[in-house]
Amino acid sequence: AHGAHVPVLVIGTGYGGAVAALRLAQAGVPVHLLEMGMAWDTPGPDGRIFCNTRSPDHRAYWLRTRTKAPLNYFLGSSIDRDVTRHTGVLDAEEFGGIIVYQGRGVGGGSLVNGGMAVTPRRENFAGILPSVNADEMYGVYYPRANAELGVSAVDPAWFDATPYYQYARVGRKHAQRSGFRFTFVPDVYDWDYMKREEAGTVPKSALAAEILYGNNHGKRSLQQTYLARARATGRVAISPLHRVTAVVPDGARYAVTAEQLDTAGNVTATKTVTADRVFFAAGSVGTSKLLVKLRATGALPRLNDEVGRGWGDNGNVMCGRANHMWDATGARQSAIPCAGIDNWAAGGAFAEVAPLPVGIETYASFYLSITRNPHRARFSWNAAAGRVELDWQTAWKQPSIDMAKTIFDKINATEGTIYRTDLFGVYKIWGDHLTYHPLGGAVLNRATDGHGRLHGHPGLYVIDGALIPGNTTVNPFVTITALAERNIEKIIATDLR
Ligand code: FDA
Repeated sequence: AHGAHVPVLVIGTGYGGAVAALRLAQAGVPVHLLEMGMAWDTPGPDGRIFCNTRSPDHRAYWLRTRTKAPLNYFLGSSIDRDVTRHTGVLDAEEFGGIIVYQGRGVGGGSLVNGGMAVTPRRENFAGILPSVNADEMYGVYYPRANAELGVSAVDPAWFDATPYYQYARVGRKHAQRSGFRFTFVPDVYDWDYMKREEAGTVPKSALAAEILYGNNHGKRSLQQTYLARARATGRVAISPLHRVTAVVPDGARYAVTAEQLDTAGNVTATKTVTADRVFFAAGSVGTSKLLVKLRATGALPRLNDEVGRGWGDNGNVMCGRANHMWDATGARQSAIPCAGIDNWAAGGAFAEVAPLPVGIETYASFYLSITRNPHRARFSWNAAAGRVELDWQTAWKQPSIDMAKTIFDKINATEGTIYRTDLFGVYKIWGDHLTYHPLGGAVLNRATDGHGRLHGHPGLYVIDGALIPGNTTVNPFVTITALAERNIEKIIATDLR
């Protein structure tokens, strides 16, 4: 309520926010989380909470009147359609040179992501978080995160038999024939549930094209894991449809201002509460935008010059390949990816074998590559426009394309195949306009100390993907979760006891 005081306020309910909430509550500290998106706990008139990728409706997008699908063309024509403006679950946030896809709602990115739960190869860790002790991460915090998130791998025998992973088996065959390492990728999806989907004994979710706009069953989002356990402590309150706009020192406390939104995105109330400590867990983009604005407008003047810097796209780039008729990828495809091609050491690319669950045979193989892109962008405050901007340039994706080509040029040469040119526009091979994996903007040991305490303002912390300097070599949420586990343990032991 307006005017209330809370010991700890957390901005955002994604991985970082959920870890902070659970561990603080278990330590006896009451926690209040503010989340700009919806609760996503109530079915619509069709009986479902979320819509699927084949028929997006108002629930799909954050405050848009037309969908903005990541893969927005098929056979040369746009597949986007008009929708009613609504506080939907997927935000396609447009900056000058890149569209950053993010989840909106209680659970953050866990609502919309593929659930691919990948621990980076240990030899790569020093390049990901150079100041963090790898022994502790691989001995304690990665295992803790994986256990709490409910990570497991597909049953290889079922993988080999089900029509729903024919596309991934084709991906494996092509990778192996070109000499690349093919790996199964663990996921938070309940694989036994997926088997029952195939058997027809439960409602279909992954097998009914549910992914980008939410999964109604099967996926263990943060709502089923960290946030459920946090709520069960009785010490955690979550306010959805509350967007934080300011954090200002107020004596030894902080005054936090939030706008309450209706589901059309209108501001219906503005509230201020005070908190002893504030955790920024609004995601790489959300946290960076808030901090950059608050520094520039004088609300938090002592934040250092590193705030807003070190942002990267995890080297994301997409492409499709056109297969021969004897390499059909299947009209039935599980929306949950489960495999990848690892050419990181030699070529700087790790490629997910991704689904194209359009419901018809496409003869296409589709991939999301994570690459060692060296470019880092910066957020800055545009006072005239009253908004935070990001200086990423589309041309900065070229190194990512070159790294992805170390895999796919070779596969095309081996197979005698070509790239698809109809998936991202008219005669456009590379999906180089977007990222699913924003990272950085308030980097550990630069904008903060070694455990996420922001320099200059005691009691303020960063605990999300903003801490990670732009690349994790694989899909990022396990690393975000494990780092949050590491940092919150230290903060509870030293700052809250
Ligand atoms: P996260 O973005 O999860 O949470 C931040 C929360 O803060 C959001 O709920 C947001 O609404 C809220 N917020 C922002 N600003 C606010 C404000 N001012 N006030 C109040 N609330 C605010 N990763 C992976 O490892 N495997 C995968 O398979 C995938 N797949 C994938 C697919 C797609 C389509 C997307 C968009 C992303 C992925 N990811 C992924 C990425 C993964 O989801 C992402 O890295 C994490 O969700 C980031 O976690 P954070 O805790 O940093 O923020």
